[in-house]
Amino acid sequence: MENITSNATWYVNDAAFDWLYPERIQQLSKRHWTPMEVARKSAKFLTSGSGRRILDIGSGVGKFCLIGGHQFPEATFYGVEQRKELYHFAQAAKKMTATRNVEFINGNFTQIDFEAFDHFYFYNSFFENLVNEGQIDQEMEYSTGLYNYYSRYMFKGLDNRPGGTRLVTFHSLEDEIPPSYQLVDATVDFLLKMWIKR
Ligand SMILES: C[S@@+](CC[C@H](N)C(=O)[O-])C[C@H]1O[C@@H](n2cnc3c(N)ncnc32)[C@H](O)[C@@H]1O
Repeated sequence: MENITSNATWYVNDAAFDWLYPERIQQLSKRHWTPMEVARKSAKFLTSGSGRRILDIGSGVGKFCLIGGHQFPEATFYGVEQRKELYHFAQAAKKMTATRNVEFINGNFTQIDFEAFDHFYFYNSFFENLVNEGQIDQEMEYSTGLYNYYSRYMFKGLDNRPGGTRLVTFHSLEDEIPPSYQLVDATVDFLLKMWIKR
């Protein structure tokens, strides 16, 4: 298909951005992918600290990373995603938008070294282990044990990061947030929270 879309057109609003993906993926957007305004606010906060490497833990089809990367070209946004299919859609969207400062990794976040990143974004990725419906697919194994394991793992990873590390959570139950992280802002009906490690 001829590329008649200027790059900025994708970032006009959520509906425009979601056209980067097939219809089935678009339909998951409201529930599973970060809304554009939330992505913008979060990226602004995460790029305001020192250090420019930001990791989205459970990056899905890459919506947060691509919006952040577009808005803040001097930072690098990384996304780790366990589902291979979603990773491929993220890579395709990166190509379509000709984005250079975003990197996607296919794998479990437990394989990732937190030390390689300065700041973190988290949209309640482990919650799918606690519910019986509404999951992205039925391809994964879900369990409360896995939720607890992942939450503890992330808790430890965050706790080991230096003072000044920034974290954004959206819809979090806060099990993965160490007390060393201080809440500095809460908006969007208290669902979007910004934290800085003391
Ligand atoms: C609610 S979606 C958010 C997607 C993306 N961060 C966004 O905001 O658009 C959570 C994603 O986390 C992924 N995920 C859940 N557990 C994971 C794990 N242990 N390692 C990597 N990805 C995980 C899911 O497959 C899902 O795509």
